[in-house]
Amino acid sequence: MANAVTCLLMAAVVLAPLFAGAAGGKLSTRFYDRKCPNLQSIVRLAMVEAVAAEPRMGASILRMFFHDCFVNGCDASILLDDTADLTGEKNAGPNANSVRGYEVIDAIKAQVEASCSATVSCADIVALAARDGVNLLGGPTWTVQLGRRDARNASQSAANSNLPSPGSSLATLITVFGNKGLSARDMTALSGAHTIGQARCTTFRDRIYNDANINGSFAALRQQTCPQASGTGGDGTLAPIDVTSPDVFDNYYYQNLMSKQGLFHSDQELFNGGSQDALVRRYSGNGAMFAADFAKAMVRMGGLMPSADTPTEVRLDCKKVN
Ligand code: HEM
Repeated sequence: MANAVTCLLMAAVVLAPLFAGAAGGKLSTRFYDRKCPNLQSIVRLAMVEAVAAEPRMGASILRMFFHDCFVNGCDASILLDDTADLTGEKNAGPNANSVRGYEVIDAIKAQVEASCSATVSCADIVALAARDGVNLLGGPTWTVQLGRRDARNASQSAANSNLPSPGSSLATLITVFGNKGLSARDMTALSGAHTIGQARCTTFRDRIYNDANINGSFAALRQQTCPQASGTGGDGTLAPIDVTSPDVFDNYYYQNLMSKQGLFHSDQELFNGGSQDALVRRYSGNGAMFAADFAKAMVRMGGLMPSADTPTEVRLDCKKVN
């Protein structure tokens, strides 16, 4: 009898995190170990192919994850298409004509459904794909906590108000991340995501024409393809965010900040005589420290949960509720 009780207690301790994952919103690294053992290899292989076809896709999916998590938690709300009943997040200011990679997530979801149907949330697929994209471009890897659920709603207004703009001051950036329970250090580490990917002229025009704390030849270089006047054809022209190595996840982003070559006003705010200067210096000189902090901050950002009253499910098609 005593043995049976001990066994039950031990089983409860071992299984508790799994049940919490389903019911209480807690995540677990082993959530799909039994339910979908091939999940991680399916996502990895699909990302290997997507990044080989277009390295920028690693950056695009990373940004998609950030924009999902900062708007009512990591719940795949960003993936929902607009319908008669739902005004989604895809057309919010920070996302429209800008967030990309939806078709990559849809293709991964189709493969995952074929292997283990109605089991894996779209939100977890985005979290895994973002991690793999970073790693495939030379960045760190980390163990992803799993068990997220997909929202049955989305909020365009929250997407418009919760995401930081490229014109933000350091104080605003610290506040916006602080509102999500993330520290200034998390914010500075996560901003290192801008070591990969591209940006449209509209997002950095003010900086290259109006900021004083910018390297002159860098500003002139960017001005060549981003005209001062808006609406004259160059608004959507892309430029690499990291002028040195745009397709490699390294710490050049921080070195660029130290030479006043941050592309966004918000980037340069991290090294402009303020509280983050010392950390930027350290990350620029120590790539391993940046990589470790980035991975930790990604896990913390990935832990942002939708509010308790959000209706959730495991979506079958990431674009629409079941
Ligand atoms: C700190 C505040 C941040 C601001 C103000 C900001 C702003 C921006 C802007 C304006 C763009 C260009 C969008 C466009 O051209 O339409 C961009 C691109 C990007 N952002 Fe951020 N971002 C921030 C933080 C982050 C974080 C935390 C991550 C991820 C952890 C991230 C990942 C990226 C990536 C990878 C791209 C390039 C995407 C691509 O090439 O498709 N950003 N960001």
